[in-house]
Amino acid sequence: MKILVVGGAGYIGSVCAELLLDDGNEVAILDNLSEGHRRAIDPRAKFFEADLEDRARTLSILRDSAPDAVMHFAASALVGESMANPSKYFRNNVANGINLLDALLAAGVPRLIFSSTCAIFGPPERLPIDETMPTRPINPYGESKLTFEKILQWYGQIHGLQFVSLRYFNAAGASAKFGEDHRLETHLIPNVLKVALGEKPHVEIFGTDYDTPDGTCIRDYIHIVDLARAHILALKTEKSGFYNLGTGGGSSVREVIECCRKVSGRGIPSLEKPRRAGDPPRLIASSEKIKRELGWRPQFESLQAIIESAWKWHQNFPRGYED
Ligand code: UFG
Repeated sequence: MKILVVGGAGYIGSVCAELLLDDGNEVAILDNLSEGHRRAIDPRAKFFEADLEDRARTLSILRDSAPDAVMHFAASALVGESMANPSKYFRNNVANGINLLDALLAAGVPRLIFSSTCAIFGPPERLPIDETMPTRPINPYGESKLTFEKILQWYGQIHGLQFVSLRYFNAAGASAKFGEDHRLETHLIPNVLKVALGEKPHVEIFGTDYDTPDGTCIRDYIHIVDLARAHILALKTEKSGFYNLGTGGGSSVREVIECCRKVSGRGIPSLEKPRRAGDPPRLIASSEKIKRELGWRPQFESLQAIIESAWKWHQNFPRGYED
């Protein structure tokens, strides 16, 4: 198939592009490189440096690359930033997303795979979180992704656009070539591994008084390659739908740090800090629907395997993609 990966120079998009290419697909990447990195672009892919804000250029790229489907990863994705600058989130994640959808329709591209998030749910009433649970985002980031999901549904109903929306829990780990390097790093695992590499003196633990067994927050970490595989399965179905995507397991912040110590063999000093605003104590996915309907099965179910892959990548790229 011919696939256009929008945001293919970012963390998740780069690994999806790599797997698509490994499977023999033809891949083009569209990215504005605001968060993505030139070195994260698989050299086998054709690259268009462009911004979805530019409607005419977006349409011309869609016509030029004539894909069978588009995967859409390009978004702003920091909860804290969205609370300070909601305009950026609604502009990038909703308005620019509509530009992409309209270009898809004009170019006759029938199918979109969308990168959504568990942040659309807000604090859950029960665990694990399945697709029937109410969506009540508590920040503009989650709201922007939920709004785009609703827009997708209307475009499906009115224009016949086929779509799959995948709501990721905590994406983690790396492929052999591509890994996690955000310009502003807020995520736990890369921050812990930076301490292991000596890039940072200590890792901060945000909150040790949660109602969890060790007092720290629990998250469902899913390997980036398992996540990418879900996108490839989503391409193969004609049905539209929304799917939660995690492993169904939960690891606390302390467990993650301990596992990083074990995998890296380094001390990794930590400092206990107050809670970070907006962190729910536990987020765990039910991925039963995607297993049942698309036949998805995670290959990396242990936290250790996920961290081992991340550690390998960080050792190869100690300062990330930029020298
Ligand atoms: N944490 C620390 N120290 C750090 C970084 C994080 O203690 O240096 C803690 C956080 O407070 C949280 C946990 O580690 O309890 C995980 O934090 P991350 O930032 O790695 O991930 P989040 O669960 O906050 O974020 C993820 C996705 C977001 C998504 C969000 C939904 O990365 O895109 O889940 O809640 F929006």
